[in-house]
Amino acid sequence: PGPLTVLGLESSCDDSAAAIVRLFEDGRAQVLAERVVGQNAAHAPFGGVVPEIAARAHAERMDALAAEVLAEAGLKAGDIDAIAATAGPGLIGGVMAALMTAKGLALGAGKPLVAVNHLEGHALSPRLTQRLEFPYLLLLVSGGHTQLLIVEGVGEMTRIGSTIDDAAGEAFDKTAKVMGLGFPGGPAVERLAAQAADPDRFAMPRMLARDRSCDFSFAGLKTAAKRAFDALDAPSQADRADLAAAVQGEIARHLAERARRAMALFAARFETLEAPRPLVVAGGVAANRSVREALEDAARKEGFALIAPPLRYCTDNAAMIALAGAERLRRGESDDLSAPARARWPL
Ligand code: KG4
Ligand code: ZN
Repeated sequence: PGPLTVLGLESSCDDSAAAIVRLFEDGRAQVLAERVVGQNAAHAPFGGVVPEIAARAHAERMDALAAEVLAEAGLKAGDIDAIAATAGPGLIGGVMAALMTAKGLALGAGKPLVAVNHLEGHALSPRLTQRLEFPYLLLLVSGGHTQLLIVEGVGEMTRIGSTIDDAAGEAFDKTAKVMGLGFPGGPAVERLAAQAADPDRFAMPRMLARDRSCDFSFAGLKTAAKRAFDALDAPSQADRADLAAAVQGEIARHLAERARRAMALFAARFETLEAPRPLVVAGGVAANRSVREALEDAARKEGFALIAPPLRYCTDNAAMIALAGAERLRRGESDDLSAPARARWPL
């Protein structure tokens, strides 16, 4: 009994992160220290994350980040209750950096290791800053994932929809690449779209228009954006802005339409749960205002309330990994030092 203090490490994509989280018995969480170091500059010349570059950068930084958050929290490895690390899914070389560092620290300090699923981290992230009871519906929209999950508890998550091709963030990033906007593309597309004079000028395909599932598809958008852009001769800033708005609008519409379907399923399954029921959005794409507005509108229509963690916990971070680790530890779970790094690890 008593609070649990866990060091969390994250390196599954292009952010190296460490954090220390304290989980109290009543379910409240407190972030004692946190660091996130991105790698955008290293990947920008390539217009996307280069796995080998990411892995090397993580490996160089992980142990220093762990030492920094411990120092900031005024703790030593021996003072914490466990060491948690993302063990997947993600870019395997990167995943290994945090996991191996965590194993070394766990062995050195004689503390348990908790191998955390990155998606479970995202799913629990809103609980870092607010009391949120289970169950809730989660839309995870990042550069690597686009999924709808019913979250009934720690380790009790059911996926009810996912992308059949690209992730929503990839659709932003690839559109940005087509237009030469740099990496990461989401913020650049959003800034440009805000200047659009005619957001309806370019017609975008309606993805999965006749599909009745909660799945997503974004690959057709990139193709349509490329075709539209290539058809312009000497595209101006105004052309780019209109195209950015068209793509962003369709991404937002598609996400909201699929989320509405999922909300209806959720409401039917948890009939006795009072409205407004919770729809949580997490992942980097949750930063996008058009996406948020579309989701807010959809939630209102379905009798849900949209809940978004603060931006720093929407994107990749280690606090969510430490929290997931602490929740698992409290349930008496921990992992053997032979826990594998996994490129794929569906919930
Ligand atoms: O969750 P995240 O930081 O990393 C993972 O992929 O796990 O998400 C990054 C993604 C990128 O694809 C980026 O372009 C997108 O989130 N993103 C945005 C915005 N900010 C970040 N997409 C649209 N609008 C934004 N403002
Ligand atoms: Zn992520």
